[in-house]
Amino acid sequence: ASTGPLAGCRAMVTAGPTHEPIDPVRYLANRSSGQQGFAIAAALADMGADVTLVSGPVHLSPPAGVTYLACETAREMHALVMGSGQFDVAVCTAAVADWRPEHEAAQKMKKTGLQDVPPAIKLVPNPDILAELSATGSTRPKLVIGFAAETENMVAHAIAKRQRKQCDWIVANDVSPATGIMGGQDNQIVLITPDRVEPWPKMNKTEVAKQLAARITVWFSE
Ligand code: C5P
Repeated sequence: ASTGPLAGCRAMVTAGPTHEPIDPVRYLANRSSGQQGFAIAAALADMGADVTLVSGPVHLSPPAGVTYLACETAREMHALVMGSGQFDVAVCTAAVADWRPEHEAAQKMKKTGLQDVPPAIKLVPNPDILAELSATGSTRPKLVIGFAAETENMVAHAIAKRQRKQCDWIVANDVSPATGIMGGQDNQIVLITPDRVEPWPKMNKTEVAKQLAARITVWFSE
């Protein structure tokens, strides 16, 4: 068994983007690299937690000592998270696609002539993993943490998101291209809890992960 302040604590971390198929060779995706989620999984494992990391497609090696489950789509991520048992803390860093193409074409979609009308792709909503984890009654993790990647009105949107999704904390970050956060090494977050809005200084994603893991440890010790 592990030692450390989070020994015995079961943690679920989601990370990365999801890929939503259009046809056998095309998909919808986003710019998430998975770095922040992988760093949080590593930091929680370092504190002794029993960590399950569920990630969409990324170019990263899973941290040592975590149970790693890889997936592509939001629906696969949802099934892995819901099928992995109960957790004490869930940290949803994944940039899950909010929508997916309603139908995946069985064969590559082809142009047939120059006058073609481009195909319309109808989108339908994906399951919301964070909202579902936040609502699961007696099996709800004691602490559910969501992320809010915003490009405008970050704090206001994140406060509203915390209410709407019913999670406990929200980590808000500004992912406007000019910040270089999405896909970059550094992160600048605002931690939103039921009673506080805390802007953190800019630091690298490993440091954000360590400090967040430390805060989670304090929360469980209170
Ligand atoms: O609504 P929005 O996608 O901005 O919410 C972001 C938060 O919700 C993140 O914590 C993300 O991991 C989580 N989320 C999720 N499942 C979805 C969409 C978002 O878990 N389908």
